[in-house]
Amino acid sequence: MTRAPGQPLRVSAALCALLAALAAGCDCRECAPPVTAQAGSAPAWADAPAVPPVAFFERACANCHGPGGMFYGEGFAAMSDDAELARVVHEMVIGPARTTLDDASTAALVAYHRHLRESVRRPFVVLTRIDGGRVEGEVSGGARVVVVADGREVEATVVDHAWSVVLTGPPRASLVVRARADGEPTDETELDLGRAAWTHDAPPESSVSSKGGA
Ligand code: HEC
Repeated sequence: MTRAPGQPLRVSAALCALLAALAAGCDCRECAPPVTAQAGSAPAWADAPAVPPVAFFERACANCHGPGGMFYGEGFAAMSDDAELARVVHEMVIGPARTTLDDASTAALVAYHRHLRESVRRPFVVLTRIDGGRVEGEVSGGARVVVVADGREVEATVVDHAWSVVLTGPPRASLVVRARADGEPTDETELDLGRAAWTHDAPPESSVSSKGGA
Protein backbone atom coordinates (compact mmCIF):
# COMPACT_ATOMS: atom_id res chain seq x y z
CA MET A 1 0.00 0.00 0.00
CA THR A 2 1.30 3.48 -0.83
CA ARG A 3 1.48 6.18 1.70
CA ALA A 4 -0.10 9.55 0.94
CA PRO A 5 2.72 12.02 0.29
CA GLY A 6 1.39 14.53 2.76
CA GLN A 7 1.16 12.09 5.62
CA PRO A 8 4.67 12.21 7.14
CA LEU A 9 4.51 16.00 7.13
CA ARG A 10 1.18 16.01 8.93
CA VAL A 11 2.53 13.68 11.57
CA SER A 12 5.60 15.79 12.26
CA ALA A 13 3.54 18.96 12.23
CA ALA A 14 1.24 17.46 14.82
CA LEU A 15 4.25 16.41 16.86
CA CYS A 16 5.65 19.90 16.65
CA ALA A 17 2.36 21.38 17.77
CA LEU A 18 2.37 19.03 20.71
CA LEU A 19 5.95 19.90 21.62
CA ALA A 20 5.19 23.55 21.25
CA ALA A 21 2.20 23.22 23.53
CA LEU A 22 4.27 21.38 26.13
CA ALA A 23 7.21 23.75 26.05
CA ALA A 24 5.34 27.01 25.65
CA GLY A 25 7.39 29.52 23.72
CA CYS A 26 9.07 27.01 21.45
CA ASP A 27 10.23 28.97 18.45
CA CYS A 28 12.30 26.32 16.74
CA ARG A 29 12.27 26.67 12.97
CA GLU A 30 11.17 23.09 12.39
CA CYS A 31 7.89 23.88 14.12
CA ALA A 32 7.08 26.90 12.04
CA PRO A 33 5.21 26.11 8.85
CA PRO A 34 7.24 27.01 5.76
CA VAL A 35 5.94 30.38 4.61
CA THR A 36 8.11 30.87 1.54
CA ALA A 37 9.94 28.40 -0.67
CA GLN A 38 7.06 27.37 -2.89
CA ALA A 39 8.96 25.48 -5.54
CA GLY A 40 9.20 27.55 -8.68
CA SER A 41 7.83 30.78 -7.27
CA ALA A 42 9.46 33.73 -8.99
CA PRO A 43 11.20 36.48 -7.10
CA ALA A 44 9.42 39.82 -7.03
CA TRP A 45 10.45 41.93 -9.99
CA ALA A 46 10.18 45.69 -9.96
CA ASP A 47 6.71 47.00 -10.78
CA ALA A 48 6.23 48.23 -14.32
CA PRO A 49 4.63 51.67 -14.60
CA ALA A 50 0.93 51.50 -15.45
CA VAL A 51 1.45 53.85 -18.41
CA PRO A 52 4.49 53.05 -20.60
CA PRO A 53 6.35 56.38 -20.89
CA VAL A 54 7.63 56.25 -24.47
CA ALA A 55 4.25 55.40 -26.02
CA PHE A 56 2.63 57.99 -23.77
CA PHE A 57 5.09 60.63 -24.93
CA GLU A 58 4.41 59.85 -28.59
CA ARG A 59 0.67 60.03 -27.94
CA ALA A 60 0.41 63.02 -25.60
CA CYS A 61 3.51 65.15 -26.10
CA ALA A 62 5.05 64.53 -29.53
CA ASN A 63 2.51 66.62 -31.41
CA CYS A 64 4.20 69.66 -29.86
CA HIS A 65 7.69 68.37 -28.97
CA GLY A 66 8.35 66.07 -31.91
CA PRO A 67 8.84 62.29 -32.10
CA GLY A 68 11.38 61.31 -29.45
CA GLY A 69 11.40 64.96 -28.29
CA MET A 70 13.32 66.10 -31.39
CA PHE A 71 11.82 69.61 -31.17
CA TYR A 72 13.10 70.18 -27.64
CA GLY A 73 15.46 73.13 -27.92
CA GLU A 74 18.85 73.92 -26.48
CA GLY A 75 17.27 75.39 -23.37
CA PHE A 76 15.89 71.96 -22.59
CA ALA A 77 19.29 70.30 -22.88
CA ALA A 78 20.75 72.93 -20.58
CA MET A 79 18.05 72.49 -17.96
CA SER A 80 20.29 71.20 -15.22
CA ASP A 81 17.91 71.21 -12.30
CA ASP A 82 16.35 67.79 -11.96
CA ALA A 83 13.52 68.98 -9.69
CA GLU A 84 12.64 71.63 -12.28
CA LEU A 85 12.49 68.96 -14.99
CA ALA A 86 10.12 66.85 -12.89
CA ARG A 87 7.95 69.90 -12.20
CA VAL A 88 7.71 70.90 -15.89
CA VAL A 89 6.90 67.34 -17.01
CA HIS A 90 4.13 67.10 -14.41
CA GLU A 91 2.69 70.48 -15.45
CA MET A 92 2.76 69.48 -19.11
CA VAL A 93 0.84 66.29 -18.33
CA ILE A 94 -1.97 68.08 -16.53
CA GLY A 95 -1.74 71.20 -18.73
CA PRO A 96 -1.29 70.97 -22.52
CA ALA A 97 -1.56 67.17 -22.62
CA ARG A 98 -4.83 67.43 -20.66
CA THR A 99 -4.53 64.17 -18.79
CA THR A 100 -3.32 62.66 -15.51
CA LEU A 101 -0.70 60.06 -14.65
CA ASP A 102 -0.15 58.09 -11.48
CA ASP A 103 3.09 58.78 -9.56
CA ALA A 104 5.07 55.80 -10.87
CA SER A 105 4.14 56.54 -14.49
CA THR A 106 5.09 60.20 -14.00
CA ALA A 107 8.43 59.13 -12.51
CA ALA A 108 9.06 56.89 -15.53
CA LEU A 109 8.20 59.77 -17.90
CA VAL A 110 10.61 62.06 -16.02
CA ALA A 111 13.29 59.34 -16.29
CA TYR A 112 12.69 59.20 -20.06
CA HIS A 113 13.22 62.97 -20.14
CA ARG A 114 16.55 62.59 -18.36
CA HIS A 115 17.55 60.41 -21.30
CA LEU A 116 16.22 62.97 -23.81
CA ARG A 117 18.17 65.73 -22.07
CA GLU A 118 21.49 63.89 -22.06
CA SER A 119 24.07 65.14 -24.51
CA VAL A 120 25.46 61.63 -25.01
CA ARG A 121 22.33 59.61 -24.76
CA ARG A 122 22.54 56.35 -22.92
CA PRO A 123 19.62 54.21 -24.06
CA PHE A 124 16.50 54.47 -21.91
CA VAL A 125 14.91 51.14 -20.97
CA VAL A 126 11.68 50.43 -19.10
CA LEU A 127 9.79 47.27 -18.20
CA THR A 128 6.12 47.26 -19.16
CA ARG A 129 5.03 43.67 -18.45
CA ILE A 130 6.18 40.29 -17.17
CA ASP A 131 3.87 37.35 -17.71
CA GLY A 132 5.49 33.97 -17.08
CA GLY A 133 8.37 33.79 -19.54
CA ARG A 134 7.15 36.73 -21.59
CA VAL A 135 8.92 39.98 -20.78
CA GLU A 136 8.08 43.28 -22.50
CA GLY A 137 9.24 46.83 -22.31
CA GLU A 138 10.16 50.00 -24.13
CA VAL A 139 13.49 51.31 -25.30
CA SER A 140 14.59 54.64 -26.74
CA GLY A 141 14.98 54.88 -30.49
CA GLY A 142 17.35 52.63 -32.38
CA ALA A 143 18.72 50.56 -29.51
CA ARG A 144 19.22 46.80 -29.49
CA VAL A 145 17.97 44.95 -26.45
CA VAL A 146 19.36 41.81 -24.87
CA VAL A 147 17.62 40.18 -21.92
CA VAL A 148 19.78 38.16 -19.53
CA ALA A 149 17.59 35.75 -17.58
CA ASP A 150 19.38 33.66 -14.95
CA GLY A 151 22.61 34.31 -16.81
CA ARG A 152 21.32 33.30 -20.26
CA GLU A 153 21.28 35.97 -22.95
CA VAL A 154 18.31 36.27 -25.27
CA GLU A 155 18.10 38.89 -28.00
CA ALA A 156 14.80 40.78 -27.76
CA THR A 157 12.60 41.65 -30.71
CA VAL A 158 12.38 45.43 -31.04
CA VAL A 159 9.54 47.02 -33.01
CA ASP A 160 9.61 50.82 -32.90
CA HIS A 161 9.97 51.51 -29.19
CA ALA A 162 8.61 48.19 -27.93
CA TRP A 163 10.81 45.20 -27.10
CA SER A 164 9.80 41.71 -26.07
CA VAL A 165 11.28 38.30 -25.40
CA VAL A 166 9.76 34.91 -24.76
CA LEU A 167 11.96 32.89 -22.40
CA THR A 168 11.70 29.14 -21.98
CA GLY A 169 10.05 29.76 -18.59
CA PRO A 170 9.62 32.40 -15.90
CA PRO A 171 13.00 33.82 -14.85
CA ARG A 172 13.98 32.36 -11.46
CA ALA A 173 16.76 34.32 -9.87
CA SER A 174 17.95 37.20 -12.02
CA LEU A 175 16.62 39.29 -14.86
CA VAL A 176 18.68 42.01 -16.47
CA VAL A 177 18.00 44.05 -19.61
CA ARG A 178 20.86 45.54 -21.64
CA ALA A 179 20.38 48.11 -24.37
CA ARG A 180 22.92 49.42 -26.84
CA ALA A 181 22.32 51.97 -29.58
CA ASP A 182 24.15 51.62 -32.87
CA GLY A 183 25.59 54.51 -34.78
CA GLU A 184 25.99 57.14 -32.12
CA PRO A 185 28.56 57.33 -29.36
CA THR A 186 26.72 55.83 -26.48
CA ASP A 187 27.18 53.61 -23.49
CA GLU A 188 25.31 50.45 -22.93
CA THR A 189 22.65 50.77 -20.26
CA GLU A 190 21.80 47.93 -17.96
CA LEU A 191 18.58 47.53 -16.02
CA ASP A 192 18.38 45.02 -13.16
CA LEU A 193 14.67 44.21 -12.94
CA GLY A 194 15.13 42.90 -9.42
CA ARG A 195 15.85 46.46 -8.37
CA ALA A 196 14.17 48.91 -10.74
CA ALA A 197 11.71 48.97 -13.64
CA TRP A 198 13.39 51.77 -15.62
CA THR A 199 16.77 53.37 -16.17
CA HIS A 200 17.65 57.05 -15.63
CA ASP A 201 15.99 57.10 -12.23
CA ALA A 202 18.38 59.80 -11.05
CA PRO A 203 20.35 62.53 -12.81
CA PRO A 204 23.80 61.36 -13.91
CA GLU A 205 26.51 62.25 -11.41
CA SER A 206 28.38 64.30 -13.99
CA SER A 207 25.46 66.76 -14.17
CA VAL A 208 25.58 67.34 -10.42
CA SER A 209 29.05 68.79 -10.60
CA SER A 210 28.42 71.02 -13.61
CA LYS A 211 30.61 70.36 -16.62
CA GLY A 212 30.78 74.07 -17.34
CA GLY A 213 28.34 75.08 -20.05
CA ALA A 214 27.82 73.94 -23.66
C1 HEC B 1 0.01 71.85 -27.01
C2 HEC B 1 1.43 71.77 -27.12
C3 HEC B 1 2.18 71.02 -26.03
C4 HEC B 1 1.95 69.74 -25.59
C5 HEC B 1 0.87 68.75 -26.00
C6 HEC B 1 2.98 69.47 -24.63
N1 HEC B 1 3.80 70.55 -24.48
FE1 HEC B 1 5.49 70.67 -23.35
N2 HEC B 1 5.77 72.60 -23.92
C7 HEC B 1 4.95 73.29 -24.80
C8 HEC B 1 5.45 74.65 -24.91
C9 HEC B 1 4.83 75.75 -25.75
C10 HEC B 1 6.59 74.74 -24.09
C11 HEC B 1 7.52 75.95 -23.88
C12 HEC B 1 6.85 76.99 -23.04
C13 HEC B 1 6.71 76.54 -21.62
O1 HEC B 1 7.71 76.18 -21.00
O2 HEC B 1 5.57 76.58 -21.12
C14 HEC B 1 6.77 73.42 -23.50
C15 HEC B 1 7.82 73.08 -22.65
C16 HEC B 1 8.07 71.82 -22.21
C17 HEC B 1 9.25 71.42 -21.49
C18 HEC B 1 10.43 72.31 -21.16
C19 HEC B 1 11.29 72.39 -22.40
C20 HEC B 1 12.44 73.37 -22.26
O3 HEC B 1 13.10 73.60 -23.28
O4 HEC B 1 12.68 73.89 -21.18
C21 HEC B 1 9.13 70.10 -21.21
C22 HEC B 1 10.15 69.20 -20.50
C23 HEC B 1 7.85 69.67 -21.74
N3 HEC B 1 7.25 70.73 -22.34
C24 HEC B 1 7.36 68.38 -21.62
C25 HEC B 1 6.13 67.98 -22.13
C26 HEC B 1 5.58 66.67 -21.91
C27 HEC B 1 6.23 65.58 -21.13
C28 HEC B 1 4.39 66.65 -22.58
C29 HEC B 1 3.40 65.51 -22.65
C30 HEC B 1 2.88 65.05 -21.41
C31 HEC B 1 4.20 67.94 -23.18
N4 HEC B 1 5.27 68.73 -22.88
C32 HEC B 1 3.11 68.27 -23.94
C33 HEC B 1 3.87 72.78 -25.47
C34 HEC B 1 3.33 71.53 -25.32
